[in-house]
Order: sequence, then C-alpha cells, then structure tokens
Amino acid sequence: MILLAIETTCDETGAAVLEGPATPGFVVPRILSSVVSSQIGLHQPFGGVVPEIASRAHVVQIVPMIDEALKRAGVGLKDVGAVAVATRPGLVGSLVVGLTAAKALALALDVPLIAVDHLEGHLYACQLAHPDLEVYPCVGLVVSGGHTSLYSCRGPLDCELLGGTIDDAAGEAFDKVASLLGLGYPGGPEIERAAKAGNARAFAFPRSFLRDPRLAFSFSGLKTAVLYALRGPNQERGAVEPTPEMTADLAASFQEAVVDVLVAKARQALEQTGMRRLGVGGGVAANGRFREKLGAAMERMGVETFIPPLSLCTDNAAMAGVALLKLAAGQTAELDVDVAAGLVRPKPPRPS
Ligand code: KG4
Ligand code: ZN
Repeated sequence: MILLAIETTCDETGAAVLEGPATPGFVVPRILSSVVSSQIGLHQPFGGVVPEIASRAHVVQIVPMIDEALKRAGVGLKDVGAVAVATRPGLVGSLVVGLTAAKALALALDVPLIAVDHLEGHLYACQLAHPDLEVYPCVGLVVSGGHTSLYSCRGPLDCELLGGTIDDAAGEAFDKVASLLGLGYPGGPEIERAAKAGNARAFAFPRSFLRDPRLAFSFSGLKTAVLYALRGPNQERGAVEPTPEMTADLAASFQEAVVDVLVAKARQALEQTGMRRLGVGGGVAANGRFREKLGAAMERMGVETFIPPLSLCTDNAAMAGVALLKLAAGQTAELDVDVAAGLVRPKPPRPS
C-alpha cells in the first residue's frame, strides 16, 4: 500500500509518501519521501506564527510539496492507495488547506481518506525512527511551539491525554523569551546558543507544578519572571538592552527552568502510569540541554527513551504514516470530515 500523507497543522507544509501493509500487526511503514516547506522566513518579522499568513502560504505550497514528495518517492498519483491528513489539533485555516487537498485527491483517485491526530503522529514518529523496536506502550511527551502534553499510549492509536500546559507551550515560551532578549525567531535555537555562555544558576526562576502531582505545565509565570529580571517589576514597557553576559545568564537560567519541569513531569508520568518507555516529539526535543538531562534521568529510572531525529521531531507529514494502522483497523474518514483546533481530551467522569 502506498500512502500519501499531508501535514498543514501550523506553519510547515509537509507531504510524504510511505509504503506499508494496510493489515494489522507490528509492521512499521517505510518512508519513501518526506518534504517540508518551512514558513519561518514569513513569520520571522512578527516573532511568531501569524495564522492568516500561514494559511495563505499553505495554499501556495501544498500542490508543489505533494508533487515533490511523489517525485522523490518515484511514484505517481496512480500508485497512491490511500490519502492521510492531520485534521487536529492546529490552526483552523491551516488545517483546512491540507484537508481540502486530501479530500480532493481521495475523491479524484477514489481511494480511502484517513484523518489523523497530529499529536498521535508526533509520537508515532518515535516508532518510524526505530522500526525494529517496540516503542509502545509508552508515555508520550510532545513539546513544540503549540503543545506541551503528556500521554499514556497503550498503542499508536490509543493515546490518552494525561495533562498539558494551562497557558503557553514550552516552545512558545522559548520564542517569547527570545523576543524579550532581542534574539531571533524561532527562539529555541537562539536561546540554546546564548545559554552556552551563561550561568544557569544566575537567576532562580520559577518551576511551576514541579512538586505538584498533577501532570500540568505552566510557562507564562516564567516568562514574566524573565521580563522582571530584565527590567525590574512593574516598569514601563520599553526597550531594555541587556549586556551580552546578562543575556547569556537569563537564557541559561530560563532554559534550565523549562528543562527541569519537562524532565520532572515526564518522570512523574512514568511513575504514575508504571510505564517503562518514553517517546518524545516536537521541536523543543532538539534542545541539547533537554536531551542531556532527560537522558540522565531516564537512565537512572531504567526507562527506554525514544527521540526521533530532528526531521521527524519537528512538523512533517511522514508521521501521519500512523494512518496505515487506522486503515488496517477500518478507521477511514468520510468526505465531510471536518478539522478541529483543540486536543482530544478525556471525557470527564460521570457524576455518581
Ligand atoms: O514541532 P515544531 O517544529 O512546530 C510546532 O510548534 O508544532 O516546534 C517548533 C518549536 C519552536 O517554538 C522552537 O522555538 C522550538 O520548537 N525549538 C526549540 C529548539 N529548536 C526548536 N526549543 C528549544 N531548543 C531548541 N534547540
Ligand atoms: Zn507539531
């Protein structure tokens, strides 16, 4: 089965071609091609993703990306046996572009359409990157510009949300703090670079929910703490030029606070679920300090940790390869399927 997969949840237009059996069982699809058109340059002047600009750029890029993915895989449209697309969560205007393209192709080629959850895809990327190993059951941690969530995944299609951020996502905090410090966008790599010359203990920044058993995250207080450290509390808004030493110390102390929380919450989720494996996805997983501290903590716990290479950590269409499992399970979508902006949350318990 040749699967054409499409990703347009945020600011990357992705298309991929995968090959795999559409039958149940532990067989990981092979990625024949995966291409991404990044919109970073378009959003850079604004210091963050502008939804309207993102949707328009997807409109321009979606057909060229699909053509390129097919070309690199050495297949034609006639070979495509199913079309997969991430339909949630994400920016609605962006999601609609990918879904409309996927619907048109499924209709024209008369093949099944499969709607996938972007976050299930981020975690399935761990399996795609390690085709010979069993990644599931695992705790899943997605840390990106739009999400910071923990999942209990009994299988690739059976992920239950354990908790997530109540305000900013971790990557969003990196981007906003980078902007405060006058660093570039996206902020994560810039902060990581600046932090290398800094002292992570220079500022005692808050670590929200650190000792709280709830699997929740909050990064907005941390962002405000950086702002106050930069120019003092309740000061007029306005440009403050920190010295290079102060920028480095603020970046290092901020990064350490985020990393400490992410590692602690992953540890708690593993303890609470009793699971022995951890899968990580999202752009923040590129952070060297995070990998270092997470790796050490997981080794102490004897937990097997899966972090895909960067191309599969950040947004891409290959991770929608999880669709082949859905196809095998008969979970195809109708042509009137819609997009959804938000996460799939567990049903609240029924009142007794
Ligand atoms: O997964 P991703 O490419 O897109 C989504 O948000 O879905 O993640 C992008 C985010 C940005 O917020 C970026 O600042 C962050 O990942 N990021 C990093 C690093 N590289 C990218 N954060 C911390 N350290 C990094 N090295
Ligand atoms: Zn993502």
